[in-house]
Amino acid sequence: MRTILVTGGAGFIGSNYVHYVLEQHPDYRVVVLDKLTYAGNLDNLRDLAGDPRLEFHQGDICDQTTVERLAQGCWAIVNFAAESHVDRSLMDPGDFIRTDIYGVYVLLQAVRKFGVERFVQISTDEVYGSVPHGSSREDDRLAPRNPYSASKAGGELQARAFYESYGVPVLITRSSNNIGPYQYPEKVVPLFITNAIDDQPLPIYGRGTAVRDYIYVKDHCAAIDLVLHQGTPGEAYNVGGGNEVNTVQLATAILDLLGKPHDLMRFVEDRPGHDQRYSLDCSKIQALGWRRQYDFPQALELTVRWYVENQWWWRKLKSGEYLRYYQEQYGRRLAAAQR
Ligand code: NAD
Ligand code: DAU
Repeated sequence: MRTILVTGGAGFIGSNYVHYVLEQHPDYRVVVLDKLTYAGNLDNLRDLAGDPRLEFHQGDICDQTTVERLAQGCWAIVNFAAESHVDRSLMDPGDFIRTDIYGVYVLLQAVRKFGVERFVQISTDEVYGSVPHGSSREDDRLAPRNPYSASKAGGELQARAFYESYGVPVLITRSSNNIGPYQYPEKVVPLFITNAIDDQPLPIYGRGTAVRDYIYVKDHCAAIDLVLHQGTPGEAYNVGGGNEVNTVQLATAILDLLGKPHDLMRFVEDRPGHDQRYSLDCSKIQALGWRRQYDFPQALELTVRWYVENQWWWRKLKSGEYLRYYQEQYGRRLAAAQR
């Protein structure tokens, strides 16, 4: 029986990946290490409670003792643990540098010490920086432009260095914007859906022209699993949905799916240094056999339906710390907003 340590497995993509592994590999054991920051949520794993193949530990990937205890005997580590929201990194980058760079180093040391056979570092298309034309390939220059993406680039460069220097079997995935169940409602898609359900304004940064490539989270999980099992150590793999959409198009599609008026859109002060476009060339992972299963309309419809049907999950998150963050991020912006 293979054991996989999934760090950050109580977050959005990590918890979807835990579900994916237990469905696809009935003979695998999954150990989750998660600090349960504001973004970590045991409700994301609630339906798996009682499954003897799943073990949960609350802890920090920066804590060497905890990491070493859990890494021993694992076949692989898949690292999702990170501070993940660009807007929060602009407010306060410290935790991003700690978890997204130093935390990766602690994991890599454990992989090296205990001979773990595979280490997958979940990275992001943001490491390429803003891409006005064409699509990024894996050997393009990394040019991150905000504290989050710079930290993610730092983490994956450490991983790459451990491969080159010590032969640590590292694999890197760089995905575009995931959508689907269990995404914390600070990210644009769940923020817009949950605000629209409650007839609250949708804050659109700048003129809403920034382009993102949205991918359904299950497609990303399938790609990660493929890279884990069939990827070449030392290599990075782009994972995109092929669904490039700007923020106005996104907001319009969400409002239409919910039958809400377009005048809920508010144009607010832009994100500083806002990357205007990401775009990935995914031919490398396609050569391994991966194809996306969900196009943008399917992915968005499934996501909207999940938030409509699972209000128990997100309503309680929109309190306390969330409201403080919301006020700091949007209070002044919305007060000065244009329709
Ligand atoms: P998330 O914020 O929903 O989840 C992050 C998880 O990591 C949370 O459960 C949190 O509690 C945990 N965590 C944070 N700091 C930790 C620490 N020091 N030790 C242990 N656990 C810690 O993030 P997500 O959107 O699921 O992203 C997961 C990973 O995928 C991240 O590495 C992110 O950079 C990357 N990524 C995300 C996207 C996206 O669209 N969401 C796209 C590409 C890559
Ligand atoms: O591209 C992959 C990245 O996608 C991941 O690495 C990050 O972890 C993830 O958070 C996401 O980053 P983005 O900055 O692209 O996602 P976000 O949902 O914050 O914003 C998506 C787009 O929507 C972006 O152009 C900014 C815009 N936006 C966002 C918010 C939160 C708005 O216009 N208004 C908003 O309120």
